[in-house]
Amino acid sequence: MTQDEQKKAAAEYAVKVVENDMRVGLGSGSTANYFIKAAAEKVKRENLNTVFVASSNASEALGKSLGLNVKSLDEVPLLDFTVDGADEIDPQFRMIKGGGGAQLREKIVASSSRFVVCIADHTKLVQQLGAFPLPIEVSRFGVNATTWKLERTLAKLNYTDVQMRLRAKADGTPYITDSGNPIIDLKLGKITDAERLDAELHAIPGVTETGLFIGICGVLMLGTDIGVEEITRK
Ligand code: A5P
Repeated sequence: MTQDEQKKAAAEYAVKVVENDMRVGLGSGSTANYFIKAAAEKVKRENLNTVFVASSNASEALGKSLGLNVKSLDEVPLLDFTVDGADEIDPQFRMIKGGGGAQLREKIVASSSRFVVCIADHTKLVQQLGAFPLPIEVSRFGVNATTWKLERTLAKLNYTDVQMRLRAKADGTPYITDSGNPIIDLKLGKITDAERLDAELHAIPGVTETGLFIGICGVLMLGTDIGVEEITRK
């Protein structure tokens, strides 16, 4: 199976958790999009009364276009579960997310859910986080000052040879999230202290949210060459 087929298989497998009268959080990205499509088919087929909350404008638009009952998190502040993708996930189910720029809303939605399912193709499961650049959503105000503080914090934590990049669109202008913020991507290589790193990054004024999701995912549904493997966090 190709990577894309594995994403689709994981998403279609995950749809088994969608039941009548549930409140379901929708992630963002290509794997989450497969889940939204599979959920829409199931809701229609089984005539379910399920309410969805989206973690991005794109997921909301897709869900609504497929006929899902999508409400805001303010209308439905407690969710039964959320299904979302990941850029990297390690054996402790710590994740890097935000490759698509949605990590702030994804984390708010995930943390409003009783449990979180990660759906991914097998390339996302890594022994150590950090090869994928860690997205940091920052306030528009004082981006250069925040960048400087990020550099100081990373040096203090002994991250050498870090590549920092203000995320840009194809036309070269800064990428801006659904919440109106820029993103600074940190290529760290190897993240050896995810919990401490996350705490230190959050302590910087101007950091709105990090792409580190720790203690959030409970179940991983992983697309592999031979089918979908379901793994529960120990
Ligand atoms: C969106 O901001 C991200 O957190 C995505 O969930 C993550 O990038 C995974 O994306 P794909 O499912 O497209 O690989």
